[in-house]
Amino acid sequence: MAANYRWFAQRAGSAACAACVKADAYGLGLTAVARTLWQAGCREFFVASVGEGAALRVLLPDALIYVLNGYLPAELPALRAARLLPVLNDPTQVAAFEADFPAGTPAALQIDSGMTRLGLDAGDLPALGPRWRQPGAIALLLSHLACAEQPGHPLNRQQLERFTAAWQALGRPRASLANSSGVLLGSDWHFDLVRPGAGLYGLNPQPEQPNPLRPVVRLRAPVLQVREVREDTSVGYGASYRMRAPGRIATVACGYADGYPRAASSRSLALVGGRRVPLIGRLSMDLLMLDVSALPPGTPRPGDEVELLGTDYDVDALAAAAGTIGYELLTHLGRLCRRRYHPAEPNPPE
Ligand SMILES: Cc1ncc(COP(=O)(O)O)c(C=O)c1O
Repeated sequence: MAANYRWFAQRAGSAACAACVKADAYGLGLTAVARTLWQAGCREFFVASVGEGAALRVLLPDALIYVLNGYLPAELPALRAARLLPVLNDPTQVAAFEADFPAGTPAALQIDSGMTRLGLDAGDLPALGPRWRQPGAIALLLSHLACAEQPGHPLNRQQLERFTAAWQALGRPRASLANSSGVLLGSDWHFDLVRPGAGLYGLNPQPEQPNPLRPVVRLRAPVLQVREVREDTSVGYGASYRMRAPGRIATVACGYADGYPRAASSRSLALVGGRRVPLIGRLSMDLLMLDVSALPPGTPRPGDEVELLGTDYDVDALAAAAGTIGYELLTHLGRLCRRRYHPAEPNPPE
């Protein structure tokens, strides 16, 4: 992950590189992720909620922490205590901030440039009070790209144009538009700060291209049992899968309660001793079955570990097999798993 951060920081050129660590750092664990990114040189972080920001503040006393969803009235004490920068997303949030904080207190403003999710509309800008024209009042102007994964999508340029217009109208404050995929769109999209999330965690920012980033997650589980079965034996709940020939099946201690997607039943694979074997039948809460008939007799054995995610079969590949995206898979993964974090390599190869 540290190498991925450095990759984005270099790609960002003269723009600074923040990190999006919302949802417990995309499910990977905020503590380890935040510390690693700070060590790699990251100084600005984006979270979704005040609660996430407060947790991050404990870990990183000196970081700049932006709260993408802004804050609710009840969250004001926590926002202040943790010295978080709220992202204000509509005129109501702006008015609340003006009432809660004296002029001169900086905040971030989000513009909706085409995502139609959060952010001020262009029509809201003329009504912004004079305090927002003061230098430094807008700590960061940001917007979010809807189609950056598809470099040729016309909305990318339209959003850039709308965002640029808002940025100019507000006196060119410090600005940020690009998520992971946006960084790859080119320097026009970089402004002063880029804010990748997914790519830091190894997801491919442009699925049509080879992934320039390193896989960050490996998921392994032990084989519990290996059994010989006859042709036409059914496997798993619903007897949805039938063996076409006699063979061997390994039952592995991982299931949907571990975050392995049930929709990948009979559609994904695992690596056993470096060889790919198919997952067969419906996976259950804490078990899945692999057809290991093609492996040498006697392998695997109960207790051997199989690799369910890693360099050969990564999060994007499993997500595709399950009909979802890497983001969803990562954020559901491993609540019950024993996690081990490996320190960053001191001198990673370029
Ligand atoms: C507003 C905002 N900025 C940045 C990001 C990071 O995007 P990505 O994970 O695609 O790099 C997200 C993620 O959803 C986001 O919502």
